Amino acid sequence: MDNIASKVNTVFLERFSSKPHLYYSPGRINLIGEHVDYNDGFVMPCAIDQGIYYAIALNNSEVLNFYSVDFNEALNIKIADIKKSNGWKNYVLGVVNEFVLLGLPVKGLDCVFGGNIPNGAGMSSSAAVEGGLAFGINELLHFGLSRKELALLCQRAEHNFPGVMCGIMDQYANMNGKKDHVILLDCRSIEHQYFPLHLDRYRIVLINSKVHHSLASSEYNVRRKQCEEGLKILKKEKGINSFRDIKSPEELLPFKNKMKDKVYDRCKYVVEEIDRTQQAAKYLQQNNLIEFGKLMFATHEGLSKLYEVSCKELDFLVELAKENKNVIGSRLMGGGFGGCTINIIKNEGVKEFLSHVTLVYQERFQIDTEIYEVGIVDGTHEVITN
Ligand code: GLA
Repeated sequence: MDNIASKVNTVFLERFSSKPHLYYSPGRINLIGEHVDYNDGFVMPCAIDQGIYYAIALNNSEVLNFYSVDFNEALNIKIADIKKSNGWKNYVLGVVNEFVLLGLPVKGLDCVFGGNIPNGAGMSSSAAVEGGLAFGINELLHFGLSRKELALLCQRAEHNFPGVMCGIMDQYANMNGKKDHVILLDCRSIEHQYFPLHLDRYRIVLINSKVHHSLASSEYNVRRKQCEEGLKILKKEKGINSFRDIKSPEELLPFKNKMKDKVYDRCKYVVEEIDRTQQAAKYLQQNNLIEFGKLMFATHEGLSKLYEVSCKELDFLVELAKENKNVIGSRLMGGGFGGCTINIIKNEGVKEFLSHVTLVYQERFQIDTEIYEVGIVDGTHEVITN
């Protein structure tokens, strides 16, 4: 058991009397396919070895007793009294609420959780909080929901309680990750394929800008609305029901004057990104990381200029990457407005690039970056302890 797992387990035993089941619930990276999961596109996430551990046991009552190790905060509430709250509480209550809405007989439980996914880093700590709890409840109460159903339940939890109208990528990756594999998820059919990730002479490194703009979730919902607005026009004008049915950005041009400028830009980005992700999947299968990396740079450009979810700190980090011959791809990862860039770097250049970035970023913004090299792991699962 690693340190976090044993801490969560120990805290559980201090606070409650029974022996819990232990679950690991991963964060995720996304190689490419950003802001297209809610637009019928493709995404390419992997579950990672930064995540959350949950210790959970049924308590033969109607009361939920949660304790967050990271926030050092407890929440005790009757199932019948569940309502929207704030912070981490919204995520756990949102999940239980969705089981209740399905009409499933939820029972009281004791639960301690904690992890090492940095907040606001775009590595989806929220999906990890949701996924670990949903998985544990489903197992302990024998509800029999599939991983796909659990991912969809967690997505609804996020819509209904915290109110972020997220796509399915994070929750799906959390549930369906596979060790050393990339998930290629078709967000239209919600079906996936796995590809082995052969990095050979390269490494994937995340650089945390350490900024997190408070408008991230409200602007996320605005982007989603703008895409819906664009699609409505495409539907009315030409009967197009999905961005997937537009084969090239040129096909959008005839509708430019029917859309607000920003709406057009958002649609253009989406169509381009869906196309890029399909190309990227081919390059990945051919092990052509050089071409894959070029597409990552292009994605960042689109996210920054057309989709406008970047910020000066992230743009700066990607510029530094572009200037370095050993970095073959770099872009902001996740929802944006701060968080991490994801970079593919030649082995021999990693050290030099990272020390340069750390220094120059500190000089420019007086912020110390954090660097993560993550391992690719299986999706949420029980950890067997003795
Ligand atoms: C967040 C959301 C995801 C996805 C990404 C952007 O992580 O939770 O559904 O939309 O942003 O790709």
